[in-house]
Amino acid sequence: MSWDSFVIVGDTHGDMIDLKARKAFFAFCDEFKPTKRIHLGDWVDLRAWRRGASSADQADSMQKDYDAGLDFLKKFNADIAIVGNHDYRLWLTARDGRGPMRDYAKRIIEDVKVEMDAIGCRLIPYGIHKGFYELGKVRNGGYYCNHGYKSGIHAIVGEARHWNRSISGHIHAVGTYVDAAKEARSAHTVGTLARLDMDYAIGNEGTARHENAWGMGWENTKTGAVEFRHVRKIGKEWMYSDTIKGVR
Ligand SMILES: [Fe+2]
Ligand SMILES: [Fe+2]
Repeated sequence: MSWDSFVIVGDTHGDMIDLKARKAFFAFCDEFKPTKRIHLGDWVDLRAWRRGASSADQADSMQKDYDAGLDFLKKFNADIAIVGNHDYRLWLTARDGRGPMRDYAKRIIEDVKVEMDAIGCRLIPYGIHKGFYELGKVRNGGYYCNHGYKSGIHAIVGEARHWNRSISGHIHAVGTYVDAAKEARSAHTVGTLARLDMDYAIGNEGTARHENAWGMGWENTKTGAVEFRHVRKIGKEWMYSDTIKGVR
């Protein structure tokens, strides 16, 4: 058997995670037992450090958020954790923050590295140049897993054009795009495990399509081909199929 299973989750957003989606996700992992476990980024929310954050948000302790984010990555036993734009605020603060905040951010980054080393997780930096993980072989039907760098309703098309083959998060919506002119060019977005009623999203109509979902599939360890599936909530349950079979 040359197909290894994988699970891909993104946008868990620390203490803003939806507890029902979290529970279902870990129940899925226990059943499916994926060989490879990938987090696409935004494992913390860091709303307090967002530019333009309200004073209430700034006062909000980040410890709970950080603990929830790290707890998720450890329980998930992630093999790959990509830095998302929310997580990247840590690196920005470590570089540009004032006095004690800068030292604090540096300490947290060190802590993240130690914790990820302990579970054997590879940390992938933020940004279009280095911020991706090649799942399988892209030239044979694999994908560049990345946080996602586009927003708006055409985000997924933009990801496909940039990466050619892409699995990303960031827009918190589920989607698949296949380029009609170039069928091998395709992109998927996996949804989010974060709450769908987050305060800063409430006035933005684009958030209406946010969905608690994740991705799964199989990677052919000989050819590098990848078969990707969405796991979405239908009624009260998240539905998936756990086998892959071939015919000739
Ligand atoms: Fe996000
Ligand atoms: Fe994001």
